Amino acid sequence: MNDEETPPKNLILIGFMGSGKSTVGRELHARLGYELVDMDTVIEQREGRPIARIFEENGEEYFRNLETGLLKELNDGGGARKIISTGGGVVGREENRSLLRHMGYVIWLHAPVEIIYERTSRNRERPLLQTENPVAKIEALMEKRQPWYEETAHLKVDTAGLDGGELAVGILESARYFFSNP
Ligand code: S3P
Repeated sequence: MNDEETPPKNLILIGFMGSGKSTVGRELHARLGYELVDMDTVIEQREGRPIARIFEENGEEYFRNLETGLLKELNDGGGARKIISTGGGVVGREENRSLLRHMGYVIWLHAPVEIIYERTSRNRERPLLQTENPVAKIEALMEKRQPWYEETAHLKVDTAGLDGGELAVGILESARYFFSNP
């Protein structure tokens, strides 16, 4: 990322459902004190209903429009530095991928399918995984999204075997390097 302008000093977490974005977001918030924006939570609060119900009642496209709208708001908002934790499917739109790269340092949290399955099977919050064969769905979605995460991220982090605190420390170190060596 030498040919691009240095983005604002926001830290943006992307990655598949269950990759640890919310946990790492909280760890980064505890260390930096920057405001933590969990996009799914903001959308749920504004809509007054959980994501699963938004999907059920209005469909995925409606949710994706809310997601892009919020991203644009965050991009236009400026202000204090933020940690932004995104939903796993945010990279599906080209418009979102390009916005994200301009909004801050983008960190892709990566985890293998087995770990994703193990974590996401603990509850029924994720409408896209409420299918007969969630493992196959995870594999298919991951394969489709992998190039998008790759294209959007400034940093890829393999999360296997590391806890949120350990991940946060590594991310902070490389963010510091990134912002001081554009
Ligand atoms: C989605 C991921 C979810 C949420 C929605 C759709 C996806 O967020 O935005 O259920 O398409 O991968 P998490 O990644 O926080 O689970």
